[in-house]
Amino acid sequence: MTDAERRAALEEIAGEVRVCTRCRLHETRTKAVPGEGDPSTEVVFVGEGPGMNEDREGRPFVGRAGGLLVNLLGHIGWSREDVFITNIVKCRPPGNRDPEPDEIAACAPYLERQLATLDPSVVVTLGRHSMGRFMPGMRISQAHGTTRVADPATGARDATVFAMYHPAAALRTPGIERESYEDVALIPTVLTDARARRAEARRVSRAGGVAPIAASGSAETPDAEPVSADAAPQAEPLTADPIVPAAQPTSAAALPDTEPAADQLSLF
Ligand code: URA
Ligand code: SF4
Repeated sequence: MTDAERRAALEEIAGEVRVCTRCRLHETRTKAVPGEGDPSTEVVFVGEGPGMNEDREGRPFVGRAGGLLVNLLGHIGWSREDVFITNIVKCRPPGNRDPEPDEIAACAPYLERQLATLDPSVVVTLGRHSMGRFMPGMRISQAHGTTRVADPATGARDATVFAMYHPAAALRTPGIERESYEDVALIPTVLTDARARRAEARRVSRAGGVAPIAASGSAETPDAEPVSADAAPQAEPLTADPIVPAAQPTSAAALPDTEPAADQLSLF
């Protein structure tokens, strides 16, 4: 898909979201919030649902939580325009209550189509509800700062999922804010590793779908096939070591260890 085709597909989804009546949240919303960002990005952030400011403006993460999200992105040299930002439910739950399971289910096809269009390398979940879609059964206190290979049923056909706390939780609790800065600092490495894993999966599929034997000294076979979240109940703790060390593309190897510039996002 070209950039223009991706942009058009995302705009079509957004148009449907703005007039959607698939669940009761449409009755109390001011504006639906489809999501926004760079149609060519490799990284998608998925929050919970719009709050008061988002409902008023029709844009995601524009209130206090959004301010912290922008600061977290700034910590790794990125801006909100470099990524795509959306939510599990696109309309504000009244009084900022948690979204109900039937509302999440009704809204899921929009997120799936956004992810299918963007085909991100990395999906960053913000908070419990978003994590629940991509890492079912996990606890946020254990899952934050860890990765999973995305279940392609989420719409993200070949992505690494990275869980973070919700910025609103970080605003309430200084310890969580500190952990969120630690977690966000891992994202450039998560992206580098995700690119390598995708490149390896493509190489394997070109070679006829036969997965290679793991490199000697490595306990892990590269994930040629995305595994579903329930097939891999243990979250994978991030280390400084790449997940697939043998498959580092040269562009990734050229990335500095610290503070990547925003434009390095579109290297691949
Ligand atoms: N919190 C969310 O989860 N999403 C937003 O868009 C804003 C606040
Ligand atoms: Fe439609 Fe999602 Fe809004 Fe419900 S929350 S009305 S499913 S866009």
